[in-house]
Amino acid sequence: MPRVLSQAQVDRYHADGFLVIPDAVDPADCAELRAAALAIVEDFNPTAKRTVFTTSEQERTSNDEFLDSASRSWCFFEADAFDADGTLRQSKELSINKLGHAMHDLDPTFERFTYRPELAGIAADVGLPDAIALQSMYIFKQPHIGGEVGCHQDSTFLYTEPMTVTGMWFAVEDATRENGCLWAKPGGHRTTLRKQFRRRGPSNDAGTEFVVLDDEPLPAPADLVPVEVATGTLVLLHGLLPHWSDVNRSARSRHAYTVHCVSASADYPAWNWLQRTADLPLRRLDSPVAA
Ligand code: FE2
Repeated sequence: MPRVLSQAQVDRYHADGFLVIPDAVDPADCAELRAAALAIVEDFNPTAKRTVFTTSEQERTSNDEFLDSASRSWCFFEADAFDADGTLRQSKELSINKLGHAMHDLDPTFERFTYRPELAGIAADVGLPDAIALQSMYIFKQPHIGGEVGCHQDSTFLYTEPMTVTGMWFAVEDATRENGCLWAKPGGHRTTLRKQFRRRGPSNDAGTEFVVLDDEPLPAPADLVPVEVATGTLVLLHGLLPHWSDVNRSARSRHAYTVHCVSASADYPAWNWLQRTADLPLRRLDSPVAA
């Protein structure tokens, strides 16, 4: 596979646990992805199902809709989206926290964006020559109500043995301190995995739980640095890197798209929450897609 990153970029990734790659994607591709995301929201009927997503309430919201979203393009609402009567406070497209978790295998625009040859090359450059596109998320970080994503390690939510989860975070819009950019701790990936998010059984009814592996706290926000990036930037994130993003208190949204990859040769325990249905198999990141 042709090399995409320079040796200096690869070294920086391994030193810091993350790598900022400006101009990784054409802003026109970002605009197309944004439109595709809004079309999915447009087609979603909020009166049928309401699934609120906040990381601090992960256990409570890990219901059927969450677990089934492994094979769907599901809409998760902001915690503050509804008033006490269950009525949306603002328009539907301004009330969604994120889409997840299979758009890359269900929507042609997401598919083209994700299975681009350069991305498989980048994954290979940082040690994943056999990357599988495990999950996709489109995060809206809405103006004024876009919620905090508490400090976490991605390997908590998607685990392989050995740990290979690698996050690919695309800025679909400019991300700044004001609208809730990522924050990360350079070198913070050289640490232990603190906890695992597990399903208690193959059936959704069994629910999910966090299993604490190490009770050492993750870094506080004051110990992290802001990762302010322009539209089209790709941020690679090591699965053990503690990262966080604040509430969006600004009037501007902060759309981002993430793909989380794992190595095909690593063991993927059956207790991972994300289990695809048989009719939608996972694919390698270097899979060909129609133009
Ligand atoms: Fe994350």
